[in-house]
Parts: sequence; C-alpha cells; structure tokens
Amino acid sequence: MPELAPPDAAVDGRRLFGGECTFVLGAADLAQVPDSTLPEIAFAGRSNVGKSSLVNALTGRKTLARTSVTPGRTQQLNFFDIGSRLMLADLPGYGYARAPKKEVDAWTRLVKAYLMGRPQLRRVCVLIDSRHGLKANDREVMKDLDDAAVNYQLILTKADKVKPGPLAKTLEAVKKEAATHPAAYPEIVVTSSAKGTGVADLQAALSQLALPPG
Ligand code: GTP
Ligand code: MG
Repeated sequence: MPELAPPDAAVDGRRLFGGECTFVLGAADLAQVPDSTLPEIAFAGRSNVGKSSLVNALTGRKTLARTSVTPGRTQQLNFFDIGSRLMLADLPGYGYARAPKKEVDAWTRLVKAYLMGRPQLRRVCVLIDSRHGLKANDREVMKDLDDAAVNYQLILTKADKVKPGPLAKTLEAVKKEAATHPAAYPEIVVTSSAKGTGVADLQAALSQLALPPG
C-alpha cells in the first residue's frame, strides 16, 4: 500500500511491532490515563468489531489485549507501549454491549472525553466490521472527530468473513463516505486479524507516526 507509507516503512513497521510491547495500564477514568509524551494511536469502534484482536495482531501477541466473543469485553482504556516509540490505546466499544446500559453509557462518555482531549493522539483507527459497513454510531463518532479536527482512519475488520465481491462493494461505499469527512484519512485498510491480512500495511503506516528509532 504505497500511498500509506514510504517503501522503508515496511521494514520499520516490522521492527517496531516485532520489538518490545508492554501493557502500561487500564484507565477507568480520565484521571488514570498515562502521563506520556509518546505519539498515540487509539483503536475505536463498535463493540466486538475486533479492536483488541487487531492490537494483538499488530504486536504479534495473541493475549496482549484481552478479546472475547461477548461484546463489551474491553471496559477500560488499555494502553500499550510499543518500543518506547509509540503508545496504542485499545478502547471500550460503543453501541451494543452485553453489560448494563449505565456502564456502557459511562464508557461511551469516557471514550469521547479521551478522544476529544488527548493532545498526543496522532490518529484514531475507527474499526468497521466488513460484514456490516458504516452504522449510525460510527457516523456519530466520525462527526465528533471531524468537529474536533482529530485525524482518523477507517479500517475494515474481519475481512475473512466476507466474500471478495461484497467486500469490494463495502470498501467502495466506505471509501466514498470517508471522502466526505474532513478529518478522515482517504485510504481505508482492509484487515483480518485471523488471517493477518493488512496487518503489515498497518504496521508500516503506524510506524511512520512513531518517534524515530533511537
Ligand atoms: P469489545 O472490547 O467488546 O468492544 O470488542 P473488540 O472490538 O475488542 O473485539 P475483540 O477483539 O474482542 O473480538 C471480538 C470477536 O471477534 C472475538 O471472538 C474475536 O475472535 C473475533 N474476531 C476479531 N477479529 C477477527 C477477524 O479478523 N476474523 C474473525 N473471523 N474473527 C475476528
Ligand atoms: Mg476489546
């Protein structure tokens, strides 16, 4: 995916994500968010879309971030230090989750407050299930990010669950819609954490936002 990153980015991406990755902390409220100066990338999206699985796929560790078949697995903002060059934030999902509404509303508020008020946030990866495309609550988040001028990139997940024809159609529709959003990155990355599709491309792209290798 040459539009996303220069040619040597693939090497840097592999090196960065193949190196040290450590869980920093899980924040249940904004006061607990780590005091860090590293460039940060957040993974947002509807419950169960595959955020934690993608963090694991990127870092090549199956259990770094906890995943579950039950929507609402991730209930805190979980921070991961990648080689002291980049911070990843795995966020609780929005929308349906198998948890009390009061709790879901509280995470949604927390996620929004974090996304709007984190100066070192370089990009939000907004994950979209390849089977479903964009939904109303994705559009809401996209509008909030547009309004706050926080850059984001749409990422299709679970591509292994969809046949190539429908996948291409969804990609086209999502791309078209992204073009109408001022803070949306024009390139969409198609991924499958299960099969590893798109993971190297995303590693390469994200490594370009990290501090230089030291
Ligand atoms: P919450 O934390 O609950 O919001 O969910 P999440 O977005 O972090 O999703 P998670 O990574 O926990 O994955 C949810 C379910 O989808 C799990 O059963 C995963 O195994 C599955 N899953 C995630 N990515 C993929 C993928 O690329 N392909 C397939 N087939 N399943 C996936
Ligand atoms: Mg999760």
